[in-house]
Amino acid sequence: MSLSNLDFLQVTEAAALSSARWVGKGKRDEADDAACSAMRYMLNEMQMQGTIVIGEGERDEAPMLFIGEKLGNGKGPSVHIAVDPLEGTNLCADGTPNAIAVLAAAVEGDGFLMHAPDCYMDKLVVGPECKDMVDITLPPAVNVRLMAKALGKDVDELIIGILDRPRHEKLIEELRNAGARVHLIPDGDLSIAIAALDPDSGVDGLMGTGGAPEGVLSAAAVLCCGGGMQARLVFSTTEQRERAEKMVKGDVNRVFFTEDLAKGSVVFSATGITSGDLLKGVRYKRGMALTESIVMRSDTRTVRMIETQHQNAYQEF
Ligand code: FBP
Repeated sequence: MSLSNLDFLQVTEAAALSSARWVGKGKRDEADDAACSAMRYMLNEMQMQGTIVIGEGERDEAPMLFIGEKLGNGKGPSVHIAVDPLEGTNLCADGTPNAIAVLAAAVEGDGFLMHAPDCYMDKLVVGPECKDMVDITLPPAVNVRLMAKALGKDVDELIIGILDRPRHEKLIEELRNAGARVHLIPDGDLSIAIAALDPDSGVDGLMGTGGAPEGVLSAAAVLCCGGGMQARLVFSTTEQRERAEKMVKGDVNRVFFTEDLAKGSVVFSATGITSGDLLKGVRYKRGMALTESIVMRSDTRTVRMIETQHQNAYQEF
């Protein structure tokens, strides 16, 4: 029996519902634990032979959803799973926009998700129109001019999402000098990467350095939408570089394109925890909880925005 997109949707919905109870409570770890427990419970219910390829860390650092953990009932297709049960732990703890629960799955056969080392990644994410125009090795000012041309906009009509970090000062200055508008985010570059794929989100692209695991999840979404991603791994230590050389095929210093990070049969699901640039967060109404999710499949390039009413808003996992 094949797995449906809805199976994966239910997994991110459960993680979002569980962590939503910790929104704004200042408790990062509790929110993350709630999301992980719910996600793990739901994945174990599925008819599959699942293996975590991007998760909460190595076996000795994470009690659940660690890299290599086997999930599912051991029957059905073998599936490689990348998860970020709570992307934006601070955002959830602070009740600020763009916390999401995310999963990507590469299904048996040609599905592939890169086993990303836990280092930084320099990312450039754009929608389908700009996919073949941009080049991460060019100055950002050139890339925004190329994007503007592809989108039929002026450069000063573009919005580029960037993590608000001191390491991005030069990038931000260059973009502003080129005339582009910058959307600074405190955390959650994966949310912005997904938003950049939707022409109605108001965000035209993501630039800058964030987590490599979040980069692979972003690539899964990019693949499903036909957008474009280019990336370079950034190492802070020699250990990180050596680890990457063991995990990643080929030159670790090269530019990685979307299909180096995610390719073939991939399913992507994300559910909002706090309302953000693309997804509404979990809301409560008349004893029910409402969630909004985006679910996509690379084989068919379907992108579904799904609103769900949950009668059982407070299920324990
Ligand atoms: P967490 O959910 O693990 O806290 O990650 C949030 C995040 O902002 C990611 O979206 C981003 O890729 C990464 O952290 C950036 O890392 P840093 O905070 O070290 O700049």
